[in-house]
Amino acid sequence: MIKKVGVVGCGQMGSGIVQVTAAAGFPVIANEATEELLERGISGIEKRLAKAIEKGKMDEAAKDKLLGNIKTAVDLEELADCDIVIEAITEDINAKKEIFKDLDKICKAETIFASNTSSIPIGDLAAITGRRDQFLGLHFFNPVPVMKLVEVVRSLDTSEASFNAAKEFAEKVGKVTVAAKDTPGFIVNVLLVPYLLDAVRQFENGLASRDDIDNAMKLGCGHPMGPLTLTDFIGLDTILFIADIFFDEFKNDHYAAPPLLRRMVAAGYLGKKSGRGFYDYRQ
Ligand code: 3HC
Repeated sequence: MIKKVGVVGCGQMGSGIVQVTAAAGFPVIANEATEELLERGISGIEKRLAKAIEKGKMDEAAKDKLLGNIKTAVDLEELADCDIVIEAITEDINAKKEIFKDLDKICKAETIFASNTSSIPIGDLAAITGRRDQFLGLHFFNPVPVMKLVEVVRSLDTSEASFNAAKEFAEKVGKVTVAAKDTPGFIVNVLLVPYLLDAVRQFENGLASRDDIDNAMKLGCGHPMGPLTLTDFIGLDTILFIADIFFDEFKNDHYAAPPLLRRMVAAGYLGKKSGRGFYDYRQ
């Protein structure tokens, strides 16, 4: 049974995972490469909790209890006795492999390893460790405290016991789980990313204005965000990265990144995080 949790990476996704894990009452160790990155991640959590208090959705005692469940560590060694370690660093396969190689030496034999990757094969990461059967994907969605879903991804070697323990953990942190196979994009991204690519392609081809494309899908289909806003929200670089992986794997035009997306990423228009994407966030 999972009692103690480690999260490697305390950026947008990692800090969200730390927050929901602590909120569910689990002791959690947040790990980052530097103290500065850790501080940034934790202060993001504190800001979100302060907003919840402002809105009357949380009281000070609950905030203190949640924060009290979080410990921080720049040293991976401190994750040694965690029952599950969830990696949520950037989508760099070599960096992820290095982390799991180290964790495999550091963590107790029973520790389950999970990656929050959206696009790297779980089997490729598992193969680096001596515990392929205790390795799986736990794919959360952005913003983690709000989005209800977690994809639990089984590689060819994931054991039933590890899968069930991770699924139970995700449910305890308030998420609904779906079981996905270790195929590119799992369930959500293999459906979502081609839709976003099509929206960029149609915009590039002059089908309609940016605002009309977004409003059409928001108001016509009841989506919370139009596709160009959502591309900005996720990050144009992330969408391009995933598209290139899909294209490489499936060799199908359906997954080809439109030239406009590639040009925008090259120009540094990465969406909300860089201040500019299809929309301008700099004011
Ligand atoms: N972190 C935590 N909470 C947040 C948040 C954030 N970044 N942004 C918004 N929220 C919370 C707000 O505090 C508010 O909470 P409340 O209802 O308790 O008061 C609630 O979400 C609604 O926020 P707002 O009223 O400010 O704004 P919206 O109603 O426009 O909702 C949204 C914002 C939840 C982001 C909504 O627009 C949405 O659901 N968008 C789609 C997001 C989506 O599709 N995510 C999946 C991306 S794909 C992915 O992550 C996979 C990856 O691999 C690419």
